[in-house]
Amino acid sequence: PTPHSYTYVTKNIPNVTVEQRERALKATHYNEFAFPAGMLTIDMLSDSGTTAMTDVQWSAMFLGDESYGRNKGYYVLLDTFRDVFERGDDQKRIIDLVRTDCTDVEKMMNEVYLCEYEGGLFNGGSAQMERPNTFIIQQGRAAESVLFELVRNILNGREPGKTYTIPSNGHFDTTEGNIKQMGSIPRNLYNKELLWEVPENGHYEKNPFKGNMDTEKLEELIEKLGPENVPLIYTTITNNTVCGQPVSMANMRECSRIAHKYEIPYMFDAARWAENAYFIKVNEDGYADKSIPEIAKEMFSYCDGFTASLKKDGHANMGGVLAFRDKGLFWKKFSDFNEDGSVKTDVGILLKVKQISSYGNDSYGGMSGRDIMALAAGLYEAAKFDYLDARVKQCEYLAQGFYKAGVKGVVLPAGGHGVYINMDEFFDNKRGPETFAGQGFSVELIRRYGIRTAELGNYSMEYDLKTPEQQAEVANVVRFAVNRSQLSKEHMDYVIAAVKALYEDRATIPDIRIVKGKNLPMRHFHAFLET
Ligand code: F0G
Repeated sequence: PTPHSYTYVTKNIPNVTVEQRERALKATHYNEFAFPAGMLTIDMLSDSGTTAMTDVQWSAMFLGDESYGRNKGYYVLLDTFRDVFERGDDQKRIIDLVRTDCTDVEKMMNEVYLCEYEGGLFNGGSAQMERPNTFIIQQGRAAESVLFELVRNILNGREPGKTYTIPSNGHFDTTEGNIKQMGSIPRNLYNKELLWEVPENGHYEKNPFKGNMDTEKLEELIEKLGPENVPLIYTTITNNTVCGQPVSMANMRECSRIAHKYEIPYMFDAARWAENAYFIKVNEDGYADKSIPEIAKEMFSYCDGFTASLKKDGHANMGGVLAFRDKGLFWKKFSDFNEDGSVKTDVGILLKVKQISSYGNDSYGGMSGRDIMALAAGLYEAAKFDYLDARVKQCEYLAQGFYKAGVKGVVLPAGGHGVYINMDEFFDNKRGPETFAGQGFSVELIRRYGIRTAELGNYSMEYDLKTPEQQAEVANVVRFAVNRSQLSKEHMDYVIAAVKALYEDRATIPDIRIVKGKNLPMRHFHAFLET
């Protein structure tokens, strides 16, 4: 294969001894989030915000506009959203948009400022729009917290004291955290049997879309609880906690149909929208000839709104968004109307108030103008097929490397942004759920080889604090996140060799005890541990 990129920023890797890492681990109470990044050989904790940006993004940053009100980036970013999510436009208008001089008044007025968009996800709230529906917020969890807090307040205002359930194909840990903090119950309705299934030779002809929502379970749950107790239905694309596995277009269409049958708004958590579109193009019948934005256009046509961390498929270091369809189901459900049908309280206005009071004006929402420009350029970069092809194949190379080295429990095919290992299988089903052996694996990988991963299993997903129903929905995995446009084959080969060695010595990996912070919300960010 031909390489797809050069790296523009170089970082030296330090020489650190096992003893030094041991000291640092002890000092940070074996909490991997607290381990100093500068002491690592390879950091695979997260693919979020860790991207090496492209030349186009770096140059776009110089054209960032730091104005307090309606900076140029606001128009550029909203137009970029429309291009890549709604218009299916692959024409690379970004260069033109980024270069557009704010003083080229005619062009800005005709092309950007005064465009009227109705009915879409990204009308924004330009001077003539009464219904704001697009909110730039600097990262995904902040968008989630704005959304869930508001939904809680609205529902409590209408009928106090009720508990709601929010089903998903797989909520991310911050999404679960936000849902729990609003007093609701998160549920993860995927198919675990399918997730662990691997063919004899480890090779799939077509990706089986293991990230799909189990739509039978979804419908059963809605029927059991009653649609009035399910305020939103979520699909995470790709399904991060379910091993970064993609969701098929057919599954989104079906979820949308079910949600709308019960008049429940259908939402996306769209952090890895481009990787998901890539999997659809390569694996789902009827999409081979469509571009990534054309596929994204269809995907987003099924949802009533979405939150997204754009620190992933924005190919950027910072960014996020919350948007809902103008006059769509989300808007109808959470706005209040007078008897004559006129709007009494617009949910968009409430969201905008929260955005402004917590993050910043709607024109930047917690981002600097230069970051907005890098993000706009990055969204186009992430929609390039060759980039996505190289990225997904790099993940598969790592997964196949583990598999061929005899490591048990590797989830195949690889996800779009990393590789996951099922810790129950890795440990031959000998370590029970409360041994938190997956966290032991992560700590030991840091100690011995300077590789940091993310435990996304029994420990982080709080197995011991869940109901039996929810416990059955935890996938006990450790994730090796692959940073975008940054790592080479040498990095991957080092990781494969390290995991092979650790696998062969797995009996010596310690169990983990939580000594402080067991019941804190999102405990893995603060807990103190012991081996
Ligand atoms: N949703 C998904 C699916 C995510 O993967 C993340 C973050 C978020 C929401 C929250 O977004 O970080 O911008 O606030 N995932 C990172 C990860 C942190 O490592 O998977 P954020």
